Amino acid sequence: MKRTHHCNELRPAHLGQMVTLTGWVHSRRDLGGLIFIDVRDREGRTQTVFDPSDLPKELFERAAGLRSECVIRATGKVRQRPEGTRNPKIPTGEIEVMVKELEVLNVADVLPFPVDDPEVAGKVNEELRLKYRYLDLRRPEMARNLRRRSKVAIATRQYLDEQGFLEIETPTLFKSTPEGAREFLVPSRVNPGQFYALPQSPQQFKQILMVGGVEKYFQLARCYRDEDLRADRQPEFTQIDLEMSFIEREDIYTLVEGLLKGIWKQALNVDIPTPFKRLRYEEALNRYGIDKPDTRYGMELADFTEEFRASKFKVFSGAIANGGVVKALNAKGMAGATQGQIETMTEYAKSFGAKGLAYIKVEKGADGATVEWKSPIVKFFNDAEKAALAQKLKIEEGDLILFAADQWLNACEILGEIRRYCANILKEQGKLTMDPNRFDFLWVVDFPLLSFDKEQNRWYSSHHPFTAPVAEDIPMLKTDPKKVRGQHYDVVVNGVELGGGSIRIHQPDVQKTVFEEVLQIPPEETKLRFGYMLEAFRYGAPPHGGIALGFDRLCAILCGTPSIRDVIAFPKTAKGTDLMTDSPAAVTPRQLRDLHIEVKVAKKE
Ligand code: AMO
Ligand code: AMP
Repeated sequence: MKRTHHCNELRPAHLGQMVTLTGWVHSRRDLGGLIFIDVRDREGRTQTVFDPSDLPKELFERAAGLRSECVIRATGKVRQRPEGTRNPKIPTGEIEVMVKELEVLNVADVLPFPVDDPEVAGKVNEELRLKYRYLDLRRPEMARNLRRRSKVAIATRQYLDEQGFLEIETPTLFKSTPEGAREFLVPSRVNPGQFYALPQSPQQFKQILMVGGVEKYFQLARCYRDEDLRADRQPEFTQIDLEMSFIEREDIYTLVEGLLKGIWKQALNVDIPTPFKRLRYEEALNRYGIDKPDTRYGMELADFTEEFRASKFKVFSGAIANGGVVKALNAKGMAGATQGQIETMTEYAKSFGAKGLAYIKVEKGADGATVEWKSPIVKFFNDAEKAALAQKLKIEEGDLILFAADQWLNACEILGEIRRYCANILKEQGKLTMDPNRFDFLWVVDFPLLSFDKEQNRWYSSHHPFTAPVAEDIPMLKTDPKKVRGQHYDVVVNGVELGGGSIRIHQPDVQKTVFEEVLQIPPEETKLRFGYMLEAFRYGAPPHGGIALGFDRLCAILCGTPSIRDVIAFPKTAKGTDLMTDSPAAVTPRQLRDLHIEVKVAKKE
């Protein structure tokens, strides 16, 4: 009594056949004495019909008692749907199955939310969806997302296998190596007082695999990071992680472009142009105010530092005298912003460290003919300053000009956030539309190897401490660390950082210099944390490099959803909890004793 067909299979070619379907009661309608039940399985749905004149009373009553989401097996004859009742929206819409036998495999209680109506189900609050994830997964969109994820995983394995990569698993009970995000710790029962850490990525193992002569490694790797969660961040997530020996940056670009091209073709039937554009980090910040720009729209930042160096407007000239810059962007079509809206935007800019957000609204003048710059600050500008603004920002009626005067990085980043903020408003107003099939891929390159932490007064790695400096910049490591570029690259699409990687340091002396002299990690600590790597590098480490792509982010983009939770079967909430299993949870005193652990919960301040 197995099924003969799945629920997306029957067509007019099957007319007259006896078939058996299995699945869930998707919907039921009682019409003109007949009962119509749509049976749904993973593949789709098929209409079945129960006719009382043709069925034993008991069977008909069983059908009448079926509630949504009961699990059934139905056997019957395929027939053409009568004229006027065909449904062109579904592939099985031409036919229906006249049921002769029905078996109820399991009944379903009344559901906490409906899964049959996409309109309603799409609006169910996410906590409820996560608590009853098994119901949520029955919704066609979620089923499609999981299927697409599976296909992409398989395509990835196939491509990398063809390219000569070996799939190798690395441990998830690792050693604590604090750097970057916070770690999850795992107590060791047999080694009292000692802990494993869950890996933030397989970075160190994959490099050791290169020393081990593997040459080409990949893994769909589970990574763990105890960081603040957002729509694009989970505490555990998956990377397409890979590493290669005897290669240069260009080899990684070509490999990843080939992988993504294949995935996009297979999943969306979209041809993405390769090679991807390259953008230097500094240019990305100068033009878009961010190192992962969405280049599907303009609104680029312009620099006015030279023009305002001697300005009467002290906010600008003062910032420049302090070594800062003046940058501006033109939010076309936003001159209509109210005072309240500008204040909200200013507060938003301040949340990113802005001291203010000077603006000019470009509106029709009182005479109705000329254009007027409405702003509390224009009175300070001379003609040359105004001309420079008009020319570089191509100012027209309807524009809203926004300024940041600050240190270079701050000014760029503040306007980068404002650029995204304005783009969202313009999207909502329908003034900025995006083709859903447009994917602007680019490589962001030439990142600074190091960034400075003002609070701790020390340099830290912009990416991670294993990234190689650009060869010609190595001498500056000790003299001018700020200027050293890293051989790091990020792949970005539509403003999302999809992945990042680098060519690594493979010389033990350079790695030691970076740890001890640049990052100022004391030698004993370096030895304790990274001693095994430095030692491994002494026994013949090949030059190597690699990359990791965020697999969840990749799938979210392919599924057109802004949240990676929608492409993960069992994701955590923003608070890191699993609402279905109710974890994390307390454990028994006995478990703690076995693990040699005492718990003291610190009071929240
Ligand atoms: P990185 O830390 O840049 O590099 O991570 C690579 C990619 O992983 C994804 N990602 C995440 N996805 C979901 N939730 C998170 N919390 C999360 N954190 C990161 C992003 C990111 O671009 N070992 C290096 C790679 C290398 O150098 O080869 C690494 O992990 O898409
Ligand atoms: P103030 O002279 O402080 O009243 O500021 C005049 C205008 O300049 C206000 O619109 C402020 O929001 C704006 N402003 C102040 N500081 C900055 C800054 N560092 N960058 C850009 N705009 C600023």
